[in-house]
Amino acid sequence: MRGGPLRLVEEAGRRGQGTVVRLGLGPFRPLLVTHPDHLQHVLRDGAENYVRGAAMWDALGRLTGQGIAGEGPGWLASRDTLRKGMSGGCLQRTGEGIAASVEQAVQELAGRAHRQPVDAVVEMTRLVHRVINPVFFGSRISAAQCDRLGQEVTTALGSLLWRMAMPFVPNRVPMPGDRAFLQATRTVNRMLLPVIDRARRQGGDGADLLSGLLRARDCDGRPLSDEHVGQDVVALFVAGSESSALTLTWAWTMLARHPAVAARVRQEADQVLAGGPPRPEHVRQLVFTGQVMAEVMRLYSMAWAVPRVARQDDMVGRVPVPAGTTLVISPYLTHRLAEFWPEPLRFDPGRFGKKAVRERHSLAYLPFGDGAHQCVGQAFFVMESVLVLAAVLSRYDVHVSGSPRPRLAVALPPRSPVGLTLTPRRR
Ligand code: HEM
Repeated sequence: MRGGPLRLVEEAGRRGQGTVVRLGLGPFRPLLVTHPDHLQHVLRDGAENYVRGAAMWDALGRLTGQGIAGEGPGWLASRDTLRKGMSGGCLQRTGEGIAASVEQAVQELAGRAHRQPVDAVVEMTRLVHRVINPVFFGSRISAAQCDRLGQEVTTALGSLLWRMAMPFVPNRVPMPGDRAFLQATRTVNRMLLPVIDRARRQGGDGADLLSGLLRARDCDGRPLSDEHVGQDVVALFVAGSESSALTLTWAWTMLARHPAVAARVRQEADQVLAGGPPRPEHVRQLVFTGQVMAEVMRLYSMAWAVPRVARQDDMVGRVPVPAGTTLVISPYLTHRLAEFWPEPLRFDPGRFGKKAVRERHSLAYLPFGDGAHQCVGQAFFVMESVLVLAAVLSRYDVHVSGSPRPRLAVALPPRSPVGLTLTPRRR
């Protein structure tokens, strides 16, 4: 089909306009749930009936384990720790470090992208790794190791696509990608386990997530195993690295297509940063930049499909949902419902003014999910992305080449390369 599978998904959303419909993804035919009232039922009021156990998720579990990426007691032990480690209060304490990492990463980017285009996805991935390294690992690994780890996790995730698309094939039946998966996970373990071991022996009280996981206890009061901690770290990479890098890439393409918006972001950055480096307290003052990021995440919701399985028979709206049915929640499609988003395809950061947000259904916007599994990295990503935009635009003119559409994968990467060039601003 012209436009690829993403067009199919968009078409299903347009046809349904919020009603519960079947999504035809080859042999996989889940129910698509997009209306905010239905999301209220599945993610909040009736959430105990809807779990992650979707077959596609089981394939992912081979990589990310049964801690934060799972359900039940293992998930809970990790969730409490990670939520605390990424909460607003904690980010206030670690904010100085995050802002300093953003500043350093932007300078490195500017060095490479000086008057010659660099690949935006590659560079945003590198930038994200620079910022997450101290937050995840307390900088126990080098920048190069963090990049390598990210690459291997991406390879492992990519090689699972066949198994995710055909979850009914048992693990003992060989499939394409198996060998790459094994090799990548072996490398990940070879890299991670010594770091975990060293960190455990140091017994540190660091504010980084690895230290937090090592201090965590399960419901029986036992420390989490090295395997559990390692899989949680991998899950953090899977959940937080590619989604962040791609969202930042789409932000640059949107700013390039909307120069008046870019000029306003720059004006705000000039006022707030006043020529200096970004600081954590700037995030609150960069109000319009925050709205721009929110609008980028409305149109480019990296979590285009969030699966759940019904434990017992239920109804969503007027549609019967037998036990065992897979539901797919799609923030990407909810964010395109004309009932809640007039002219849904128009890029308009004004949609995120305080009054507009107050008056909208609270579940019309959920780029970070909602309910028990809502993203633990939300506040962190907002801080990181707002500071990156402000730090770059206050000092550089940004030229973006290529204007691709997204392609359906685990997230939504651009179909073709996006080039970024940074030139120091003339004042
Ligand atoms: C643009 C950036 C991001 C987007 C769009 C995003 C989106 C999401 C979504 C939709 C979920 C819910 C999944 C579900 O309901 O099953 C989620 C969960 C999660 N995210 Fe993010 N995320 C982002 C960044 C991050 C970052 C930076 C981190 C790490 C610090 C992170 C860590 C997690 C974790 C650990 C979960 C699982 C939470 C749980 O199951 O309790 N995310 N994310």
